This record gives sequence, structure tokens and C-alpha cells, in this order.
Amino acid sequence: MCGIVGYTGLGSAAAGSGATPSGTPLDIALEGLRRLEYRGYDSAGVALVAPGLAGVAMAKKAGKLSNLVEELAEHPLPPATAAIGHTRWATHGGPTDANAHPHLADDDRLAVIHNGIVENFGTLKNELLADGVEFRSETDTEVAAQLLAKAYRKTGNLTEAMAEAARRLEGTFTLLAVHADAPDTVVGARHDSPLVVGLGEGENFLGSDVAAFIAHTREALELGQDQIVTITPTSVAVCDFDGKPAEAKRFTVDWDAAAAEKGGFDSFMDKEIHDQPHAVADTLLGRTDASGKLVLDDLRIDESVLRAVNKIIVVACGTAAYAGHVAKYAIEHWCRIPVEVELAHEFRYRDPIVDEKTLVVAVTQSGETMDTLMAVRHARVQGAKVISIVNTHGSTIPRESDAVLYTHAGPEVAVASTKAFLAQITAAYLLGLYLAQLRGNKFPDEIATLLDDLRDMPRKIQTVIERGEYVRATARSMRDAKSVLFLGRHVGFPVALEGALKLKELAYIHAEGFAAGELKHGPIALIDEGQPVFVVVPSPRGRDSLHSKVVSNIQEIRARGARTLVIAEDGDDVVRQYADEIFWIPQAPTLLQPLLAVVPLQIFAMALANAKGLDVDQPRNLAKSVTVE
Ligand code: F6R
Repeated sequence: MCGIVGYTGLGSAAAGSGATPSGTPLDIALEGLRRLEYRGYDSAGVALVAPGLAGVAMAKKAGKLSNLVEELAEHPLPPATAAIGHTRWATHGGPTDANAHPHLADDDRLAVIHNGIVENFGTLKNELLADGVEFRSETDTEVAAQLLAKAYRKTGNLTEAMAEAARRLEGTFTLLAVHADAPDTVVGARHDSPLVVGLGEGENFLGSDVAAFIAHTREALELGQDQIVTITPTSVAVCDFDGKPAEAKRFTVDWDAAAAEKGGFDSFMDKEIHDQPHAVADTLLGRTDASGKLVLDDLRIDESVLRAVNKIIVVACGTAAYAGHVAKYAIEHWCRIPVEVELAHEFRYRDPIVDEKTLVVAVTQSGETMDTLMAVRHARVQGAKVISIVNTHGSTIPRESDAVLYTHAGPEVAVASTKAFLAQITAAYLLGLYLAQLRGNKFPDEIATLLDDLRDMPRKIQTVIERGEYVRATARSMRDAKSVLFLGRHVGFPVALEGALKLKELAYIHAEGFAAGELKHGPIALIDEGQPVFVVVPSPRGRDSLHSKVVSNIQEIRARGARTLVIAEDGDDVVRQYADEIFWIPQAPTLLQPLLAVVPLQIFAMALANAKGLDVDQPRNLAKSVTVE
């Protein structure tokens, strides 16, 4: 939520200095914002400082980043040596120019941007009003800016002032500030909100996540909780909120900049759907030793602890929670350990039964989702071990977990998740097989066969993508649909839920997913003449007559007028006769089928949204990284 970027460097003025600057500070800030825009797009703004400038130079505009770029073309800002930039997902105060960040204070010599929520902003505002401060916006951020200005007037040092202000703020925050008195310096502070440092040559960067600077450097520092960082072109200093020097963890980003570009596709979403075979293959890569045994190196929890686990609780939100639902079916089947799946925001409020024999698995693309972070903290306080399945390096949740299993989907820029979902499911399969191997639930050759099946999935996903044109054409023909239902059983159920979520968030169409067996208990009343219903059909080669049950459900809804859009396995001649439209997917073991079945649903939602002329990368009201509860 909210994207933050900071830069200090000699920029184009560095020519001849030996350093290789990446561009002007303004260009770099704008480019960082472009890469972070998925975090919020209610407004955007930049603030610049330079020697000789009496105050901060600033531009900000409500709406998408393009509005700010237009504003800058009409009213250019002077050259600078340091810059901060912000893209907003509104919390306090509507998405107006005035409420856009940066916020100025100290006679417009100080600029501040903020991600998070200052919970005690009312008390602080009253205190500042009593001091005679005049506010220009309704935001909690301006309160933080004025508080910082007050501290700066006392200390005359931006780092010390930031520490003093941070100690008084309650809630969650990442703050960045520049001051006209220190034109080569950007100071940042973080509390329960992300901030990473990019390390350059003759330049340094700050960002909400590494996407802000991967075009320039892959060397980074992960700032810890309650730390302050001060960057100049040649130095990075970290301290805590008491001003004592502190350590930040260094890491190298394994994404390349090209991965965060559209690469010739019309949208990031389209590109990321096409990235899926790679996302799955890369997540599987390097997870076995020479003998074929699964080795999850990054899973540093004592094996005896994992053997003793008697319950697993998956905590996650949205799409990641649906990956957790798939994990439940697989892990219970392979490991015979009970698995619960809980929406992270419900978890800690229901007084869950968690102890040291509980393994909590947090699934998250961003690694920053506040609801999931809070669930992780709650679980650890109760004595549980936490493994997180995370895509974004340098994020908060892996740092606060006992162990992490990284997915290797690469940067996911489109706000609605696609490739991260497939990578999360893949990582959950690996975790399930690893536990089965460790606890002796499965023979090594059974695990080897399942791993072979998994390794074959990227090829099959590619086949589904190549068959996408028929899905797109169907979607285009349904651009006037008002409501679409999705049915599935077993692992097809979370796929149905995900299909419905994708359609809601991309095409703004009412959509609901149901367990197919639940239909007759109520939702069948929704079926009317022409009602489109997607049905995820399990393999006819699978167990427990699942297939015939779903075929019966299709007949029931068809008899009541539904238009059936069926996702079925190649060669399923039985279901063909009951489908108005059929989307074929390659044959696969039942538990692995979600990796294939969800792909036509993603393509469908994207194509329908495109047909309606909607922005599939940045759907309304959403933000990619939800860092408020
Ligand atoms: C939907 C979507 C969201 C996220 C959810 C959790 O397309 O992207 O539902 O899955 O907000 O986000 P992460 O995985 O970052 O914790």
C-alpha cells in the first residue's frame, strides 16, 4: 500500500566524477514510482532538493502517475541532488491534490512522504494546532511532517529529528524526508511497514520494495523494525529510534529489471500469465539433491520439531488463501496431518488453538500483508513455528518467520495475482512432499514420481496458455454478463473461488465460487435461463467418483437453464455432451490439476476486462501490497 521511493546521487551532474549515475534524481524517482504504482494509484508526487534551492521543489497530483508526469511537463522542476516520490493508496483523506504526498513543513523546507497509518494523529494534531501550526490537508502524514519539523527545529539534524518524531508516532509507518538544509540526504524510518535500501556507486536508493530500484542495483539492505536510515550518495547509516547505530541485513536481489517490464505484452497481467510455466519451474528448481531427495535448504527448522507437528494452520488472504486451500488437500493426503486454512485477519481474533506442536504456514506474495503479518506474530507468541511461503525478498514476513520457502515467480506487477498463485501452490506441494519424506509417510520412489509429475507441469501450463484464444473469444462474447458463477469440488473448489475473485476484481462483475456439492443446499436458486456457470471438472481417471458427481451437478444446473462453461481434462468424452463451451486442459494427477485449471479462468477474467475497456493491471480501489489491517 503506497509506494515510496528515495534517491540521492549526483545524477547527470556526476559526469566526470568517476561514478556512473543512473539519471537525474527526478527521472529515477519517477521510474521508481512507475514500478511501484501497483501499490496504490490514488495520487502521486515528488519532492526535490538541491544546493542553492531556498526550499523544497515539489509537484503532486491526484490520480495516476501519468497525471503527475503531465503536470511536470507543464511546470518543470529545477535540477536536484536528492528526491523522494510517493504513489498513494488513500487512507486518511480522499484522493485529492491537497492530500497527495509529499507534505511540506518548516516553511516548505522539509518534505515528507508516508506509507501506513498514524493512529495517534488526532492527539498529535491537537498538540501541533495548539503550537499554532496550520494544516493544509486532512492527512495523518502532514501531522507526521509537522512533528518532524518541530523536532528538526530543536535538533538541527534530520536523522535525530526523525528518531524523535518516530518515538512519538503510533500505528504503522514508513517515512521518508528531505530537507533543503541537507540537499544530498534522504532520511527514512520504518515501523511495521516496509523499507529497503538499494546500494549504488555514488548514489543510493530507498524503496517500499526492491522493484523501486532494480533497474539500477541489485545490492540491497533489508531495514529492520524500528530503524532509521540516512543515505547520501556515498554513505548509508542505520540507527534505531534511540539513535544508536544498528545493523541491517544485506542481500542480493535475484530478479532482473527486465522481469518487471511488460516485454511486448499489452499488460503486465498478460505477461505474468505467460510467465507461469517459468514461475512454477523456477520454484521447483534446485530443491533436490543428487540422489533425488527433497532438500529445502531455506527451511531451517529442526527436523525433530517438524516430525512432532500435529496440526498445520495456513494463514493468508485472498488469492494466497486459495493457494492455502489447495495446500490443505495435498498436505493432508500426503502427510496425514490435519490442515486448517484460515483467513489471516480472522485468525488471531478467534482465540485459535495453537501450541508448540502447531506449524503455521503463512502464504504471501508481497511478504508485507499486514493481516498475515499479525497472524504470524500471534502464532509465534502462542509458541507455534511459522514457515512463510513468500515471493518478495527483503520483505517483513520472512524476517519474522522461523523459516521461509521462497517462491521464484519473479516480480508480480499486475495488482491481481496470477503467477504468484501458481508458484505458491507449487511451494506448498514441495512443503507437503518434504514433510511426507521427513515423517516417512511416503516411500522415496512415490515422492520421486510426484516430483516428476510436478516437473512436467510447466509444459502443460504452457499448453493451456497456447489454447487461450478460444477462452478470449468466449470472454469477448460475454462482455455484457452481469453475474457468473463458478463451481468445483475437492481441489477444484479453491480454483472456482479464485476464478470468481479474478472476475470480480478485473471485470467488476458479480461472481461467486461454490463447492459444487453445496449448490443444492441453496445457491441453485440463482440458476436461471442463460446464467453462465463455470465448472471445474476433476479427472475422470481420479478417485472416489468425484468426476461423476460433478457431471451430475452440471446436468442439474443445465436442466435449470444454465449456460455451462466447462474446464475438463483432454479426452473426457463424458462431460463433453453437457458443456455449452469446453476448455480443455492436459491430463494431470488430481492434486496437481489446479495449476492447469485456473489458467483459463485467469485468461477469461483478463479478456473480459479488456473487452470492457478496463485497466487490468490496476483495477479500481485495489492495491497490491495491503499494509493496513
Ligand atoms: C487477488 C490478490 C489478493 C492477494 C492478497 C494477499 O488477485 O492479489 O487477494 O492475494 O491481498 O496478498 P499477498 O499474497 O501479498 O499477501
